Amino acid sequence: MFTSRMKLAEVVQANFNTLSVINRFGIKLGFGDFSVHKVCEANGVNVDFFLEILNAFHDKNYFPQEQLQSFSVAEIVSYLRKTHQDYMYQNIPHVEMLLEQLEVDCSKPDEIKLVHNFFNEYKDELFKHLLWEDDKIFPYAQSVEHAYINGSNVKQIVEAIRAYPMSNFLDEHDDIESKLNDINILFVKYLPPVYNQHLCIRILREFSILEQDINNHSRIEEKVLAPKVIKMEKFLLKQHE
Ligand SMILES: [Fe+2]
Ligand SMILES: [Fe+2]
Repeated sequence: MFTSRMKLAEVVQANFNTLSVINRFGIKLGFGDFSVHKVCEANGVNVDFFLEILNAFHDKNYFPQEQLQSFSVAEIVSYLRKTHQDYMYQNIPHVEMLLEQLEVDCSKPDEIKLVHNFFNEYKDELFKHLLWEDDKIFPYAQSVEHAYINGSNVKQIVEAIRAYPMSNFLDEHDDIESKLNDINILFVKYLPPVYNQHLCIRILREFSILEQDINNHSRIEEKVLAPKVIKMEKFLLKQHE
């Protein structure tokens, strides 16, 4: 488990993939021998929230929902939004570039085109999912928190809760990471051996990093954000019975 007294460099050494999480908090490389606490302080980052997200990312079994739920919806949503941006503007374009390279590198590009098309379909689905959350779910979650804390627009919010409560989000929230695993399997099983193997392995590695990241992201949405909002919804509905 990562603690605030550990050096941030040690965290990265223990799990290199935490770098993308660290970056989402606006913390740049070059943190020397500074502790997690010091680096967070210097970057204006809430160290407790940072550690909870890092630990949840690093260890699937470490998921203190109660503790994560003590942070504000605004804080959680801000992190989730940054993750969406990473997927849309970093991870997915990077995989696309590698796939294009693979197409150029091979003499019979038909099979790779098939995987590419499959990936494009996945990308459309993923982006639709992310935009739905960015435009509808996150603003809704924040407005519920606003009404809960400040008592602002309560009447309107209660109507919104009745129309589309957070439990509906949970019902509709589909499993976007497992489809990435399907593409991975497709790649491993059916790609003929004529292609640039090193490039294929790089692509597979990207897929599996992305799958793990999205998995963690979805867990925060379902196990932290949604229950937190549902609790506030219940309170607001009770007030207006
Ligand atoms: Fe999301
Ligand atoms: Fe999601």
